[in-house]
Amino acid sequence: MTTAEPILLTPGPLTTSNRTRQAMMVDWGSWDDRFNALTASVCSQLLAILHGTDSHHCVPLQGSGTFAVEAAIGTLVPRNGKVLVLINGAYGKRLAKICEVLGRDFSTFETAEDQPTTAADVDRLLRADTAITHVALIHCETSTGILNPLPEIAQVVKDHGKRLIIDAMSSFGALPIDAREVPFDALIAASGKCLEGVPGMGFVFAEKQALAAAQGNCHSLAMDLFDQHSYMVKTGQWRFTPPTHVVAALHEALLQYAEEGGLPARHQRYADNCQALLDGMAALGLRSFLPAEIQAPIIVTFHAPQDARYQFKDFYERVKAKGFILYPGKLTQVETFRVGCIGHVDATGMQAAVTAIAQTLQDMHVLEPAGAGLSAITGDAVLL
Ligand SMILES: Cc1ncc(COP(=O)(O)O)c(C=O)c1O
Repeated sequence: MTTAEPILLTPGPLTTSNRTRQAMMVDWGSWDDRFNALTASVCSQLLAILHGTDSHHCVPLQGSGTFAVEAAIGTLVPRNGKVLVLINGAYGKRLAKICEVLGRDFSTFETAEDQPTTAADVDRLLRADTAITHVALIHCETSTGILNPLPEIAQVVKDHGKRLIIDAMSSFGALPIDAREVPFDALIAASGKCLEGVPGMGFVFAEKQALAAAQGNCHSLAMDLFDQHSYMVKTGQWRFTPPTHVVAALHEALLQYAEEGGLPARHQRYADNCQALLDGMAALGLRSFLPAEIQAPIIVTFHAPQDARYQFKDFYERVKAKGFILYPGKLTQVETFRVGCIGHVDATGMQAAVTAIAQTLQDMHVLEPAGAGLSAITGDAVLL
């Protein structure tokens, strides 16, 4: 398949399949039984991916991923609770900001952007401050692509009798998380990430007893997941206007996810994408920011070329003209750019992206032609 539109090598919105886009060509009535059945089917498929059908409810919420994160904290952390926020990038900092805005007491623990938080850190911090009720963690910190050790941290949090809230926005559906083995009160993700739907709704997997105990916690009407869930159980409908086209697209994306082979297949394709990207960029002399052991196969941060002729905006526009959209870096100390490995793209597509990058750097006189050694591309992107 070829497309005139550039391939999005970004962590969402990302490139979706024609089938997923086509699913949005129907206008659904929000009261219609068929639409309610679609929502119920999406929620049960999402719970199955997590192995959470027995232990958790899936509560969908209108809006981008941050809306769902804010709703999870606002609903599940009581007003007199205290959150320990684990930070090694921009999305961790956003968790702290959410606690601040919602008026929930919190403390932070920050490691460098290339340092995962460890279970030993969390153990020490929970021993030192018994007022902490909840721990909030980013699974894959998308600002670099670093993977934090979720199962180990979840176990320590449980051993201390505390509750865990996980932002798995950029990892859910691609990296294994098993609710039967990893204890948590809430795990948050969204439609337009590794499931390859379109953006517009988040969802929170809320532990059943924790959600049942959360009535009245929330500061907000629209963000109250207890109310959202209760209304949906009672009526089968969303509480307020649902993002009908987004739900339909996610339903179609989930069918393709199952056809591809579910999580193991999705994980493998993204791992292959990531490896093709790392190998190709290394051949160009472009170094990745993170060591392989802590690099999630979701998004890769690369050091920008050390050359005065390199400017990200110019680089970005030129690569876009060749059919690929890259992502700026998000680090404050070093100049970087990012390339996503997720979306409806395979390793052949990633190799084509590397070729486009090589050609662009040659055109900008940042890479000498001999260093690139890659064949020209036609401009047509290669998709699955
Ligand atoms: C780890 C993580 N958390 C939260 C978000 C916020 O999502 P949104 O921009 O959809 O609000 C993102 C977005 O990429 C993310 O990667």
